[in-house]
Order: sequence, then structure tokens, then C-alpha cells
Amino acid sequence: LKVTMASAENRVPNVSVFLCFLILFATILLSFGRVSSQTSPVFACDVAKNPALANYGFCKKSLGVNARVKDLVSRLTLQEKIGNLVNSAVDVSRLGIPRYEWWSEALHGVSNVGPGTRFSNVVPGSTSFPMPILIAASFNASLFQTIGKVVSTEARAMHNVGLAGLTYWSPNINIFRDPRWGRGQETPGEDPLLASKYAAGYVKGLQQTDDGDHNKLKVAACCKHYTAYDVDDWKGVQRYTFNAVVTQQDLDDTYQPPFKSCVIDGNVASVMCSYNQVNGKPTCADPDLLKVDVLFKSQHFTKTPEEAAAISILAGKL
Ligand SMILES: *[C@@H]1O[C@H](CO)[C@@H](O)[C@H](O)[C@H]1NC(C)=O
Repeated sequence: LKVTMASAENRVPNVSVFLCFLILFATILLSFGRVSSQTSPVFACDVAKNPALANYGFCKKSLGVNARVKDLVSRLTLQEKIGNLVNSAVDVSRLGIPRYEWWSEALHGVSNVGPGTRFSNVVPGSTSFPMPILIAASFNASLFQTIGKVVSTEARAMHNVGLAGLTYWSPNINIFRDPRWGRGQETPGEDPLLASKYAAGYVKGLQQTDDGDHNKLKVAACCKHYTAYDVDDWKGVQRYTFNAVVTQQDLDDTYQPPFKSCVIDGNVASVMCSYNQVNGKPTCADPDLLKVDVLFKSQHFTKTPEEAAAISILAGKL
């Protein structure tokens, strides 16, 4: 609907009004449909409803996460695995696994932009905090986490009544240097240090549970869009094909620190690669960028300056 409305803006007024009316009508119809079909969420491993599921290793809470994942993957057919590589993941009913929509958004409050989340008469809206560019302007790192915590509490509440997912494609921590980028307000701005603090704080607020168990996720956050993405559609330059030419120094000093902080300090559950290319390679297909281990552990990022100096000396670079 959002896309339809955007294209409607370019049409002649009459058609546009008609379209908006149609869209409004369709939205009302859809929301009625949604309300009436709304039920509590369906969980995998719902042993209470289907006792046979208790026999599957992946449903045994006593096993470690790795063992449960291994068990589950070993049971899936190739077809089922492929069906789970997209955001609208297919159900695997023979194993008691419901369909799952991975795409929910919560940049500054739970949003219904993603198909995984919707509002209803039960939950007509969520708290909308200021845009991240303004939250970041407070320079208050504890506030970033506090806001994230409120957002994830609302997300959980919505999930409990079947209205929201558990995986949020937020925050957007791209460096905002170019005012021609229409999504700049989604980000914490252009300062790598502030953006790093924002990334770690907001992710912790979204993910951390009150008992402090780091193996549990309140909801899963996602730092996006990795990396050097800051153009959408400008004078024929499209985000899908744009090649960001970035020096290694600028990558290390400017574009990567927020992602490093998101992974290492925030312990984020996922990272989304970007639309664009960086230095001629699509970021989603560049092994050097995607191996987070390589990027954040064996490149320039170390815990202390002494460690960085030692690595440089050992590598003969000084
Ligand atoms: C920073 O944010 C916290 C909430 O996390 C708030 O209690 C505190 O007053 C804020 N500090 C300033 C200086 O505004």
C-alpha cells in the first residue's frame, strides 16, 4: 500500500484522490479482516497442543541452542530450507513449525511498515518516539537504551496478541553525510562515535531481557544497511546499482565503526547488507565484508590501543 500511495502522488489530482480513497477503503476492509482473524500467536514446539512434538530434539529446552539448531536443520528438506530463506518464511507443518514473517520494523517505535506487524482495535498504535536523528542529538547514551527497552516491551506485548513479530529490522546506523539521502532522519547522524553509541544502546534496549541472560533475546534487532549506503534515488542514481567508492581509511574510520559497535558492544542478533556496491562489489555478495569475524576480529578492530599496536608491529606495518 505504501508503494502504491507513493506512485499515486505523481498522478493527476483526480486520479490521486480516487486512488487514495480506494486505498483507504481497502485498508479499512483489510483491517476488519485482520481484526476478525486475529488470534494469539502460534509458536513452534507447542507441546501443549501437540504432545508428539516433545520428541524432537529442537523442541527440547534441556539441549543447548547449537544442538537444537543442528537437529532442526537436519530434519528440513531442501525445499523447506529454501522456503525459509526469504522474509515470508513458509511453515513446516509436519514439524509443527508455523509460517513466520521476519520483517518487522521499529526504528523509533513499533511500526506497521513491515508485513510482520499490524495494528488493530486491540492495539491501535504504539509509542512513536522522535526520529533517531533527533534522539541521537540528545547525546544521551542511556536514553538510547531506555527508548529501545520501551519499544521492545511494546513489541512483546503486540506479539502476545498475535500482532507483531519478534525480529526487527532496526536500527538504521548508516552514516548520514549527504543531505540528498531521503532516509537520513532514520539514522543517528554523521558522527561515527555517536552512531556507534546509538547502535549499541538501542540494540541492547531492544534485545536484553530483565534477567540479564545474554543467550535470551527479548526481540532480535538488526543493524542495517551494511555498508556505506546513503543514496536512494537521486537524478537517476538508484540505490540498487549505486557504487559507493570509499577509501579503506574512510571505511575504517567512518562507515564501519557503528557496525562494529553494534556487533561487539550491542551483541546484535543480525546485520542486513545494503543495496549498493562498495568499490565495485555488491555488499551482499562480498565475502570480505560479510565475514564479520574477519571484519571485526582480524582487521583493525581491537579491544585496546596496545593490542592494535602489537598487531601492527607483528605485521611489520610500522
Ligand atoms: C538521559 O536519559 C535518561 C534516561 O535514560 C534520563 O533519566 C536522564 O535524565 C537523561 N540525561 C539528561 C542529561 O538529560
